[in-house]
Amino acid sequence: MSTKIDDRFIGKTYSDFLFRPQQGVVATRAAISLGCKLTQSLPLGLPVVSSNMDSVTEAEMAKALALEGGIGIIHRALPIDRQAEMVRIVKRSHSAVIESPHRIARGTTLGAAKAVARRHQITALLVEEAPGSGVLAGLLTNRDIPRASTADTELVDSFMTPFERLHVSPPGISEEDAERLMFDKRIERLPLVDEKRQIRGLITLRDLLFFRHRPFSSKDRKGRLLVGAAIGVRGDFLERTAELVATHVDVLVIDIAHAHSDVMREGIEAIRSRFGDTPLISGNVATFEGARFLADLGVDAIKVGVGPGRGCRTRLETAAGVPQLQAIREAWCAVGNEVPIIADGGIAHDKDIFLALVCGASSVMLGSALSGTDESPGHLIEDPATHQKRKIYRGMTSPQAVLQSQYDDESGADRDAAMNTPAEGMQIQVPYKGSVDGVLHRVRGHLQSAVSYAGETSLEAAREKILDDPMKYLIPLSAASRKESYDR
Ligand code: XMP
Repeated sequence: MSTKIDDRFIGKTYSDFLFRPQQGVVATRAAISLGCKLTQSLPLGLPVVSSNMDSVTEAEMAKALALEGGIGIIHRALPIDRQAEMVRIVKRSHSAVIESPHRIARGTTLGAAKAVARRHQITALLVEEAPGSGVLAGLLTNRDIPRASTADTELVDSFMTPFERLHVSPPGISEEDAERLMFDKRIERLPLVDEKRQIRGLITLRDLLFFRHRPFSSKDRKGRLLVGAAIGVRGDFLERTAELVATHVDVLVIDIAHAHSDVMREGIEAIRSRFGDTPLISGNVATFEGARFLADLGVDAIKVGVGPGRGCRTRLETAAGVPQLQAIREAWCAVGNEVPIIADGGIAHDKDIFLALVCGASSVMLGSALSGTDESPGHLIEDPATHQKRKIYRGMTSPQAVLQSQYDDESGADRDAAMNTPAEGMQIQVPYKGSVDGVLHRVRGHLQSAVSYAGETSLEAAREKILDDPMKYLIPLSAASRKESYDR
């Protein structure tokens, strides 16, 4: 941390520099770790956060990000219950332990059991002794159910594997032990029960193997995917926060255009006094003073960026803003390692991510880079003449996004805030990119490559070496060298 802004960064942004290659030390780039901190207490395997924008992050995007080691932030331009439901969908989607497995009671007909399985898209149901008793009586899987429809009126009792023949485990078994037990006993599901035979969860081999193939995935202590959600500082924000906290959201992002402000201070204080434990990211700021202001308010991470985003018009409309690499460096000079910094907006190429990270950011927030994918909200638009496919990407204060939030918001609470926000965003069409997994794999590969050019074995080591004085490693570009580098 320093008390001085680094003058050499004034007016500078990503395309102003190249990175001077260092002697390489790794044989294979794939082994390079990209571990980072989202907040002091939330590590990530990939330093990528998806923007809380209605054309970028809802449940599907958040799941995809967490499975690849990043995290998605569900936007807030929708009613509280819908935002909370999206968080729940992510938290329930893949977990090592299913905490509340779906269950039916003895005496249920096969027809009714099939309907429950169909409704929840599952292939096994726990059977309890009496409705609501929670006492495990058996397990019914789709293999136990005869195909003939005539059996629909029969009771599950005669088809399930009864408790006496089931392999079960006490809660708290480790993932490794559960996997070994399931492998040894050749079973695919392991019910967890306590000494009173009360159902405490269910582990499935499918989930364990799924995570094995996603070694980087971002998970909470219970093995559920990490997810964040955005909130504001006006209207029903405390109600929204309470609902989100009840869903076990992992991090809240208080997101307003000008976070170096009294409304932000009041918002943070109100949230901290009622929901003290939940990790809190706050933004956006773009100056030394703004970052220091948020750090002093005790937030867990600071989002940096005023106006660099692809859907932003803030700088055009108000002249307010700071070139993004300067803003990141100012924030770093103000808070150093004390509070992680998230570089938000303006990432046009993967190399920009590396520059952001070695100049001060711990992670980056991506909007347009993740838009146009299968997982981003919105329909595909196909050009009837060329058959080119596109999707909509829009700033959250674009007239279109503001209008949509008015339709969506039955309570009217957020509508008033939206109506009072001047349009400093715009809507564009971006080419369709397929699954976001492809984008994330590419980003991972390019970041590993960048770390290798920096002569280090991990992103953490590269940052440690470079952060003290990035200018030792950066080459300012002339117009000619910029042309040589980027004109393709
Ligand atoms: P990129 O460049 O990744 O930027 O698409 C995403 C970020 O842009 C910000 N954002 C806005 N900024 N007016 C703005 O000035 C807007 O309407 C707007 N909408 C989003 C936001 O920080 C996002 O993460």
